[in-house]
Amino acid sequence: MASLVQAPGSRLANFFAFRRDPLEFMVRMNDVGDLVALSSARTAPSFVVNDPECVHELLVAKERHLRKGRSSRILAETLGSGLLTTEGQEHATQRKLVQPAFHMQQIARQAQAIVALAQLAVDRWMQAGLDGAVVRPLSDDLMELTLRVITASMFGDAIDERADQLGAAVDVCIRHSARRLYAPVPLSLKVPTPAHRRFAQALTDLDRYLDECMDADREHLDANRGATLLSMLLDLRTEEGEALLTREQVRDQLLTIFIAGHETTANALSWALYLLCVVPDVQAQWHEELDAVLAGATPTFADVARLPLTQRIFQESLRLYPTAWMILREAAEPVAIGGHEFAANSTFLISPFAIHRSARWWDDPLAFRPERFAGERVKGLPRYVYFPFGGGSRSCVGSQFAQMEAVLILAVLGQTLRFELPTPGLRVEPEPSVSLRVRGGLTLRMMRRYPSA
Ligand code: HEM
Repeated sequence: MASLVQAPGSRLANFFAFRRDPLEFMVRMNDVGDLVALSSARTAPSFVVNDPECVHELLVAKERHLRKGRSSRILAETLGSGLLTTEGQEHATQRKLVQPAFHMQQIARQAQAIVALAQLAVDRWMQAGLDGAVVRPLSDDLMELTLRVITASMFGDAIDERADQLGAAVDVCIRHSARRLYAPVPLSLKVPTPAHRRFAQALTDLDRYLDECMDADREHLDANRGATLLSMLLDLRTEEGEALLTREQVRDQLLTIFIAGHETTANALSWALYLLCVVPDVQAQWHEELDAVLAGATPTFADVARLPLTQRIFQESLRLYPTAWMILREAAEPVAIGGHEFAANSTFLISPFAIHRSARWWDDPLAFRPERFAGERVKGLPRYVYFPFGGGSRSCVGSQFAQMEAVLILAVLGQTLRFELPTPGLRVEPEPSVSLRVRGGLTLRMMRRYPSA
């Protein structure tokens, strides 16, 4: 039976400690017990979940008794009723429709476009630096790169000059959701505050963009058929030949993939490059792997499997900085977890960030050591001590796409560039927004590894 203990300190003190620094709070609670009760409120008590078996029960074994609840309702203000925000049967139906766009052979088709876009980013940086060292706001650059990747691969669109406007609109929506997700009582959106007006404008901009994509796809129907998520969704038909999804339903799926599908990956890449600067020995080994395997050739989909260290660098970065740093569940009805009974409406806080850093499971947990994923010990660990992509029927639909994209982008960047912190010894802080960002953004110095021909 899992231990269930009351969190030390008063309910109010814990509430403020969480608000001040949620990551520190979740890490501290990780040492307290398998399940930690945060409040004794009868109607909606909250519990921190630290035990991997309990995580498995919540995400997989007993998932039909649980729902995403409040987190979905807040995200639905932006995303509507898409894959991330629906529950129960509606979610299962949607998952079946969207999943084929993420089958391996489908995502393999996107590899070339990903590599070309990454190459373009490197060329732009190097032009700016004229072959010397160049200092770049890398978080912003990577956000733009993954935005271009998701629009090219899922919508078949090169966003070009609209990248800045779309990036800004996404940023407004994400900050809006992050503020409301952990606010005690989110203010009604009908109150016309400046922040609510900015949010409404950002949504209008995104809607207009998605409308344009849908119209463009219709015009090129035959050329696009089946090639992108957008054309797949627009092409779904009932037995009578009617469109299966309304335009609004397609819009909700697109916006979900658009937002869920680039910020997390961009932040994960920022953390990977930061960690490679903090541990230059790993960066040197990484360069050796790229040179030995690719021998200067442009990376392809087939190379992803031939770059084990690059894969492990990404895995280990997601261990230390899992960009989905918190997973929330609510009991839809009474449920037993870890041998304890929990009332309906109980909230469960599951933090991959805290569990991934627990000394109970990980040797030297704060050290960046990609090779730990090659060792035997990691194979013997319980499944839910490492779960950057969640688990169960709500696990990340884009996890394979994200991993392929990340390895290919890292390969293109590392083939040409060496990365350094702009100031030796600089330490950056994580900012727990909807996804785990580098606070203030990551700036790095990069230089060409070989003089250009
Ligand atoms: C490093 C990158 C990524 C990480 C760490 C990540 C993580 C996650 C996690 C943990 C969940 C489950 C949340 C929960 O259970 O409450 C999730 C769900 C989801 N992710 Fe990702 N994700 C990443 C990239 C992507 C990409 C590239 C896409 C799409 C192209 C995507 C689309 C989605 C969608 C649609 C869901 C909802 C799935 C459902 O509820 O059926 N993600 N992601």
